[in-house]
Amino acid sequence: MIRVREVALLMVLVAHSPAMAAGKENENKGGATKKYEPGDAVKGKEVYKTACLTCHGETGDGLGPAGKYLTPKPRNFVKDKFKEGDSEEAIFKTVTNGLPGSPTMAAFKETLKDEDRRNVAAYVRSLRAK
Ligand code: HEC
Repeated sequence: MIRVREVALLMVLVAHSPAMAAGKENENKGGATKKYEPGDAVKGKEVYKTACLTCHGETGDGLGPAGKYLTPKPRNFVKDKFKEGDSEEAIFKTVTNGLPGSPTMAAFKETLKDEDRRNVAAYVRSLRAK
């Protein structure tokens, strides 16, 4: 049990390193407004298993092996309200930049490719009850 706690802590520490703050990938190029391109939920499930499941759980209930020890709890994707909105694009933004004010819900812009973040956002969206 101590090991999963350490993994969660490590992820938090990594998320706060200066390298994580330096993401440029999503900056607008040439000032043009980039339209959001929806991801593929089937591919997103694979991303979810490696990057999100430890905290958010197998079924998205927020009770993953590390998640169940966290306060606040990771969001239950099926039924909880999302602070930043639950459209696929809103979820993509949260995954990209992290959840404001939440050190545990870190930014993934340095650790996941743009496409993987779109795909995982589509998968999380597909877990919503409505
Ligand atoms: C280290 C644990 C951890 C990992 C890994 C993690 N999350 Fe989270 N996530 C959290 C916690 C904790 C919250 C709730 C934070 C709060 O309420 O302040 C959260 C909240 C969220 C929310 C809700 C945002 C909102 O607007 O309310 C979304 C969406 C989300 N996570 C998506 C993901 C996705 C997708 C992944 C994988 C790419 C992921 N998370 C990985 C811990 C984690």
